[in-house]
Amino acid sequence: MRSITLILLNDALPFTILWQQLTDQRSRIGERTSMTRKIRLCSRADVPAAGMLPLDIAGLPPVAAFDVGGEIYVTSNVCTHNVALLSDGFFEGDTIECPLHGGCFNVRTGEATQFPCEVPLQTYPVIVEGGDLYTEIKDH
Ligand code: FES
Repeated sequence: MRSITLILLNDALPFTILWQQLTDQRSRIGERTSMTRKIRLCSRADVPAAGMLPLDIAGLPPVAAFDVGGEIYVTSNVCTHNVALLSDGFFEGDTIECPLHGGCFNVRTGEATQFPCEVPLQTYPVIVEGGDLYTEIKDH
């Protein structure tokens, strides 16, 4: 019994080292190939004050831009409870209410704030540059 244990340990040691080397190599490759891409969304002036604007942009799922006190936030435009476009709903302050079942989200954080919504919305970083709005997404 003792000799079997030794054989396993001897076999396991090189495998462990090899596995660690492969894992390190994979994470280095991941770092090199993970790049961000900047995508123009619209003109800043297109988003109405205290309002919202649905956006259909190549390379992105449906998103919507929201003006909250002059700050722009961009989230997915599709409710996480079922399939409904949030921009068909009611927007006030920093809350978008889904037109289908009345679930709500905070557009600044994506947090689901009203049942039946429980899964947060995807949010996107917003870059304001030269009067235009951009976002950045990671390419893999
Ligand atoms: S689809 Fe939005 S709350 Fe149900």
